[in-house]
Amino acid sequence: MAPVGFVGLGTMGSRMAKRLLASGRAVVGYNRTPEKARALVEAGLVLQKSPRAVAEASDAVLSMVTDSTALRAIALGADGVIAGLRPGAVWAEMSTVSPDVTRELGRAVAERGAALIDAPVSGSAVTVDAGQLSFMVGGDPAALEKVRAHLLAIGPTITHVGALGLAVTMKIATNLGLAVQMLAFSEAVALAEKAGIARERAVEVLLKSVIASPMVKYRGPFVLGMPAEALFKVDMIQKDLGLALEMGKALGVPLPSVALTDELMNAARGLDLADYDFAVVFDVIARMSGLRPSVKTRR
Ligand SMILES: NC(=O)c1ccc[n+]([C@@H]2O[C@H](COP(=O)([O-])OP(=O)(O)OC[C@H]3O[C@@H](n4cnc5c(N)ncnc54)[C@H](OP(=O)(O)O)[C@@H]3O)[C@@H](O)[C@H]2O)c1
Repeated sequence: MAPVGFVGLGTMGSRMAKRLLASGRAVVGYNRTPEKARALVEAGLVLQKSPRAVAEASDAVLSMVTDSTALRAIALGADGVIAGLRPGAVWAEMSTVSPDVTRELGRAVAERGAALIDAPVSGSAVTVDAGQLSFMVGGDPAALEKVRAHLLAIGPTITHVGALGLAVTMKIATNLGLAVQMLAFSEAVALAEKAGIARERAVEVLLKSVIASPMVKYRGPFVLGMPAEALFKVDMIQKDLGLALEMGKALGVPLPSVALTDELMNAARGLDLADYDFAVVFDVIARMSGLRPSVKTRR
């Protein structure tokens, strides 16, 4: 069996590739900064010099990069994935990117006799490590069947959403809730604290209440102490909020809570908090309320 190809070995991609290796699969990979893949190479991943070389070696290519610009960079050109795709191959693209860019690349992939599916994920690095990642998939169901076993080696849940581009659409709709929920949680903590309830106690009560979504359960405690390594930085959540606002404008759907949350994320960047997890939106509310910010360990 041909090895699985993997392009983009960052926070999420490296952990996913590690799970593929742990399942006994041969994996060939590419990362723009090859040094970052050293640990994976030691674990058995064979590093290639270009996304094209990864595609040439595989019938199934998986990718996980930052944004639409990064996706175009790995997809297009003489060294891109598309130039190397084998006829009949399937490319499962898992990044959170523009649905329009996904569809545009889908047409170019089809011209090579291969298939693109969008397979964005819900969860964080913690969820990948726990083997609990969920995939939303868009595109040809037959193409999904060709890579289903590889995706299941990474996470247990796959939901087919519809045509190509609709999974990443669903992912953008999901992620707007992350930011908006975290802002609402921050407001609740600030209100309770300013009224005289200890921050720790307010967090404890909220985490035992009905508003404690799975995300609030793991991110809520960050308002007490920010993790040294962000799960998802301010600029990354703003990428997703920006995609949501673009879609809302195009479709005629008002997203007032997203627009407001995006403004407060701007404030977080203005306060030099961009490198922290987006839970740092709490600090924006805390500062405006005359409360102390969350505790930081050194960056
Ligand atoms: N982190 C999460 O909790 C999470 C959860 C769900 C979904 N996501 C989504 O998953 C995607 C990746 O997130 P991540 O946290 O893994 O990000 P990350 O750690 O910053 O990794 C980004 C990857 O993209 C590559 N890249 C960036 N720009 C590139 C370019 N111009 N050309 C080629 N490669 C480029 C990086 O290469 P270098 O190593 O060379 O920089 C790296 O491999 C994003 O779309 C994000 O929204 C993230």
